[in-house]
Amino acid sequence: MQLDDLYRQVIMDHYQHPRNQGEIGADALTVDLRNPSCGDEIRLQLQVADGVVCDARFRGAGCSISISSASMMTEAIKGKPLAEALALAQAFRAMMRGEAVDVEQLGELEALQGVSKFPARIKCATLAWQALENAASLAGLEHEHGG
Ligand code: FES
Repeated sequence: MQLDDLYRQVIMDHYQHPRNQGEIGADALTVDLRNPSCGDEIRLQLQVADGVVCDARFRGAGCSISISSASMMTEAIKGKPLAEALALAQAFRAMMRGEAVDVEQLGELEALQGVSKFPARIKCATLAWQALENAASLAGLEHEHGG
């Protein structure tokens, strides 16, 4: 099987069977984001305790790239310290810029590497990651204000 076909299969699997879909609850960190280029929206919720992402869920409508990216992202960050989740976001963004990245670190997310060649679709792939970064800054603000 060609690598491209394998990548396509991974993307379609996450699109058709998204992991971690739904909502956590009112007390979770919640970020609503809209992709300005198409109007598609995502809601990301994180449960963070002691700096660790205990749960991550999303809801939204979008193209196969945005949904599979959100699905893989939630899979990748669950159980990780928030700082590590943010480092992963940096690595993912670097991959979208076409930079050489440690694919070991990215795991399945490597399947989205080809998106970097289609500038119009990069926003689709990074939507969920932007939501993660926004959620992390909410967590930071809460911390600054003493929770
Ligand atoms: Fe809307 Fe990709 S086309 S998120």
